[in-house]
Amino acid sequence: YQPTVTVVGSINMDLVVSTDVMPLQGETVLGNNFATYPGGKGANQAVAAARMGANVNMIGAVGGDIFGRDLLQHLHNENIDTTAVHVFDSIPSGTATIILSEQDNRIIVAPGTNGMLSPELVQNHKSMIKDSDVILLQLEIPIETISYVASLAYDMGIPVILNPAPYQKLPSALLSQVEFLTPNETEASSLLKDPVLDILREKMIITQGDQGVVIHQNESDITIPGYKVPARDTTGAGDTFNGALATQLAKGKRLEKAVMYANAAAAMSVTKLGAQSGMPMKDEVEQFLQERSDQQ
Ligand code: RIB
Ligand code: NA
Repeated sequence: YQPTVTVVGSINMDLVVSTDVMPLQGETVLGNNFATYPGGKGANQAVAAARMGANVNMIGAVGGDIFGRDLLQHLHNENIDTTAVHVFDSIPSGTATIILSEQDNRIIVAPGTNGMLSPELVQNHKSMIKDSDVILLQLEIPIETISYVASLAYDMGIPVILNPAPYQKLPSALLSQVEFLTPNETEASSLLKDPVLDILREKMIITQGDQGVVIHQNESDITIPGYKVPARDTTGAGDTFNGALATQLAKGKRLEKAVMYANAAAAMSVTKLGAQSGMPMKDEVEQFLQERSDQQ
């Protein structure tokens, strides 16, 4: 069964510079390489889901600039349906300026056309949402649009996975309408600061890098172990996890199994530079899981 996953989210061009030293305030340093990579949490998750074998629709927006044309073409090459990607001719595409160093990554996202993805625009694609097995959302598009999609999907009985990144405070109606939230540790602790959100624990799938993932079932925490791999670029690892998780859940897999699979996909993705370039294909994930279980 080929499940359908619809992503409503951001599409960015990632402008990545690597450096040995981070510049201090007012300082200029000589860095190493510069490269552009297709990115954006929405697009990254869409690519991950497509490589995991899902039928993927992307609802989003790009600019009429060169980045926009590239990004659209790229989604198309990944077999993603782009009929619901709007082109705004006179607005720049979303970008993420990423400074990569040995110690850490620093990222500034300029929303560009992602900020134009209004509920009115999404309204034109109700049937696309209705024909999906799972809807996947992140927080790089306007919050009104996220709330709108979640309530629409909720009324249609279509499960929504919300990756609450980058973190912002979320309306409680939205939280009650999503099936799963996939925060990292920092986002999870921010979410749980809100006392009404205790009921949320059951919905939370907390990612902790190579430490694994914590899910909450029958009132207790279960950690599903991660995989240790040599990391070159962790940008997009969370997105790979989300895209793979959505595909597995859309196929009707049990949560634990789906998380294990998504962990493997995310681990494999960090071995290459760029958010999407290291994302594995379905067969590669299956082979990886097979090898790891043979070693036990
Ligand atoms: O999650 C990684 C993504 O976040 C990057 O591709 C960048 O575009 C930022 O949005
Ligand atoms: Na990568």
